[in-house]
Amino acid sequence: MVARRRMIAALTAASVLFVVACGSSNNGGGGGTSGGGGATVKGAKVIDPNSLNNPPKGTVKFCQGQDTTGIGKALVKQFTAKYGAQGYKATLTQFPASADQQRAQFIQRQQAKSDDCDVFSSDVIWTIEFASQKWLYDMTPYVNQARSKYIAAPLETLHYGGKYWGVPETSDAAFIYYRPGKGAKPPSTWQQLYSSAAKQGGLVYPGAPYEGLTCSFLEVAFAAGGTVVSADGKKSTINSPQNVKALQLMVSGIKDGAAPKAVTTYMEPETDQAWWSGRYTYMRNWTYAYAAANTGTSKVKGQFKVAPLPTFAGAGKASVLGGHNSVISAYTKNPGLALKLADFYASPAFQKQALLKYSQAAVVPGPYSDPDVKKAIPYAAELKQSLSQAKVRPPSPVYPQISQAIYKNVNDALAGRTSPQDALKKADSQINSALSTF
Ligand code: GLC
Repeated sequence: MVARRRMIAALTAASVLFVVACGSSNNGGGGGTSGGGGATVKGAKVIDPNSLNNPPKGTVKFCQGQDTTGIGKALVKQFTAKYGAQGYKATLTQFPASADQQRAQFIQRQQAKSDDCDVFSSDVIWTIEFASQKWLYDMTPYVNQARSKYIAAPLETLHYGGKYWGVPETSDAAFIYYRPGKGAKPPSTWQQLYSSAAKQGGLVYPGAPYEGLTCSFLEVAFAAGGTVVSADGKKSTINSPQNVKALQLMVSGIKDGAAPKAVTTYMEPETDQAWWSGRYTYMRNWTYAYAAANTGTSKVKGQFKVAPLPTFAGAGKASVLGGHNSVISAYTKNPGLALKLADFYASPAFQKQALLKYSQAAVVPGPYSDPDVKKAIPYAAELKQSLSQAKVRPPSPVYPQISQAIYKNVNDALAGRTSPQDALKKADSQINSALSTF
């Protein structure tokens, strides 16, 4: 714990130096993209796009969070099956399910200049931080060969300081899962969702104090018209009447039994378990949960549907852009082989499989109109549309601190330890102190 705190402090300090040096205040205020404004990252190693054709023989080590869907195992198995005869293999290392823990695991290895992860499945929110630390290969020459083949929103999450820092892997957006057999209909507003959930068997969602709760909260808050930071990126805007309203709705939802109090301890896997039990009528979760709930020990196979996130009554509609990118570690000994794996992940065949079999959002458009996919994933068109409409979490070198200020205080309010007003007041001062470090 102490080591982790020290690490975060060191990171913040390093990010500060970087930003001051570059004179950047790149920030999107909860929307927009992460192109990087005037920031530059100098001295990064640059990938040779041709290096994937004939790299030295060896094993490429792929690291990602807990492989809940099985896609990571499929990736390394299929890569090895395809290239094994040429002397190439891929292995999988699984980090914990929590996004925060995945980040910590990668940071530990990069600080030790270890090559444990040649390729890391990096959450879309970490590009600026990792690139600023010079932990990643600059992938611009590879991406520029076929930039238009990717859907714009996931590609943009890799764009910082005028460069691209990885290859898009899978994008992400959340949905409301509902049980028509229990009388549920696609909700039109968050308010309506909460009131039906209170009467009809409950809503589950990831609400533990970690990155996932920042997303669960921001979806409601952005829809209510709230923001996180000002347009110039200099000040927190979290303590607004819109955000208080959003948090109030979620807090009341737990008080009146629309959502079980246990959600305050759920990450994605616990949310899945609760949903699979068949006890609940609604779930907010990412797209992977569709395939997951239709396989294995789930008791709700074929008994649920998927709807886009609803409107906040009297305001708007929003979703939060999620997803992962294959980033190549600056400490890899075989960048060509690492690129070969990243390229394989983004290939049309693997992208189709990601969507068809694992209901993960492809980063290229083709699979969404594929007849097999349309049959297996009935909400494929809505998924593709939601990626382009989703809002990004505020791009910032201190994003992890901003997010922590959100999820810790929101979790305190959900668990009844503080009021929504006090929670956002505290988050506001914590975000402002994170921002004031640069
Ligand atoms: C999903 C999203 C990712 C997000 C995480 C939070 O994995 O793809 O972007 O940060 O959930 O738990």
